[in-house]
Amino acid sequence: MSSEQKETLRATAANANLTSYEEARRTFDWSEVEKHFTWHSTGKVNMAYEAIDRHAEGGLADKVALHYSDATRLEAITYAQMKANSNKFGNVLRQLGIGKGDRVFIFMPRSPELYYALLGTIKIGAIVGPLFEAFMEQAVRDRLEDSQAVAIVTTPSQLPRVPVADLPHLKHVILVGDDLLQLAAGQVDFKAEMAQASDELAIEWVDREDGLILHYTSGSTGKPKGVFHVHNAMIQHYYTGRIVLDLKEDDVYWCTADPGWVTGTSYGVFAPWLNGATNVVRGGRFKPQDWYDTIERFKVTVWYSAPTSFRMLMSAGDDTVKAFDLSSLRHVLSVGEPLNPEVVRWGFKAYGQRIHDTWWMTETGGQLICNYPSMDIRPGSMGKPIPGTDAAIIDDNGNVLPPNRMGNLAIKTPWPSMMRAIWNNPAKYEEYFRFPGWYVSGDSAYMDEDGYFWFQGRVDDVINTAGERVGPFEVESKLIEHPAVAEAGVIGKPDPIRGEIIKAYIALREGFEPSDELKADIAKFVKEGFAAHAAPREIEFKDKLPKTRSGKIMRRVLKAWELGLPTGDLSTIED
Ligand code: PRX
Repeated sequence: MSSEQKETLRATAANANLTSYEEARRTFDWSEVEKHFTWHSTGKVNMAYEAIDRHAEGGLADKVALHYSDATRLEAITYAQMKANSNKFGNVLRQLGIGKGDRVFIFMPRSPELYYALLGTIKIGAIVGPLFEAFMEQAVRDRLEDSQAVAIVTTPSQLPRVPVADLPHLKHVILVGDDLLQLAAGQVDFKAEMAQASDELAIEWVDREDGLILHYTSGSTGKPKGVFHVHNAMIQHYYTGRIVLDLKEDDVYWCTADPGWVTGTSYGVFAPWLNGATNVVRGGRFKPQDWYDTIERFKVTVWYSAPTSFRMLMSAGDDTVKAFDLSSLRHVLSVGEPLNPEVVRWGFKAYGQRIHDTWWMTETGGQLICNYPSMDIRPGSMGKPIPGTDAAIIDDNGNVLPPNRMGNLAIKTPWPSMMRAIWNNPAKYEEYFRFPGWYVSGDSAYMDEDGYFWFQGRVDDVINTAGERVGPFEVESKLIEHPAVAEAGVIGKPDPIRGEIIKAYIALREGFEPSDELKADIAKFVKEGFAAHAAPREIEFKDKLPKTRSGKIMRRVLKAWELGLPTGDLSTIED
């Protein structure tokens, strides 16, 4: 198809922060962005200072930094208050003897306290590890064990999922709750300590390459990987906040992601606050009415969400949209999975807004391939690389392919927010950089003749369900702990709302018979023992699973069965 025929939504924002994408690509220089930060004169820096304190001290003290709401709370927290409260938490940690480089995990639902804890941890130079609140014991254990965390901030109701007795290095459990009466050894009452703590803190000034955050994410094999990011990422967070989120001083910005995922920190904490915006956080579960109410109530101008959510809003219907005043919206963005052209068209009709797709990964730390307000959108395309970076499609030998050829989506190294390590696993880290000069994403894609990138799928077996990355191996490992399961193979099955759902093929142990009750019991086992989002929504029993002679389950064959496709080369199959 020639570019003239391609469906296009014309650029509309004449006054965007990025006026000309093409010109910026020619002239852009990261060192200009660096000048924005303190280190330019001191050599030292701290992300939390740049995000909060600098604004609190620089004229935005009384500006709302955070509008927090859920079913029971409604709070507006200014930059000055955010500074004071994160300082207090930094002091609480210091009094416990925690300092630079220590790992402090946060395992709780969204609340203002979560943000005080996250920023306070960063202020003392410790490395923060946010965990999704719905994780079950095994998921929590894997992450705390691998990172050797010394402290966790959690709530009394989640405490049973923290296997304290099995984690010798975990010295402190900081509990966020009301009227905590009996504290066990090692437990700390967040509210009581915060009430006593000073709101003045000597910030730990760190080097740009010092540790900031650990986000665990899934691959196709093995345990979750601890993706390690450093303070230097602020350059990219600030810059993409400007040119991709298009944040301006008066914006009220809402990122719907939980900080347990990278979107909820890079773009739910760092980018908006580095840019001095007012940030909105809505706690609780997804409900279309609550979401639209959030936009209406806080007059949200810039909204960053995910395809799954847009699809659910789409199925909630146009009447739901019309029941709210969404006229404050001026810029809408999406990330996490392919954004269907149909959703883009619907968004244009329902909200009068072009939904701007953005592509990046936990490992990349920040946005890399995006659509910009001042650039035409081709529905279905992820957009073009941000100025200052380069992307290409390469073959399995590292050669760059011409336009319209499918291959490995790769990014030219380095960029400011790139991960600096996989915690405890240098070999895994090296795999991403197997072709000199390139980061290999694990996604397949092609680039059209005008430089737009089009997502095609994952190269590996990683499942993307409702925007969450799930490693099939982790789910399989949990499944075979169930007494009835002999073997399990897990794949992503296409789903109109969730993108993919988790489907498990299971061979039962001798003495167990297939039944619906057993299916339900197995799904519950994963849900309660590992994580709700990783539980199979569909289970199919088989007498045997296709395996290679070395015993590896051939997920590719399962997938072909599922899609009714030819199973391809079976030469390595066991029998
Ligand atoms: O497969 C791509 C998909 O999500 C993966 C990264 O997942 P995660 O590390 O959890 O980060 C999600 C949020 C940054 C990618 O390898 N993905 C992400 N964005 C898009 C996407 N797939 C298609 N289109 C996107 N815009």
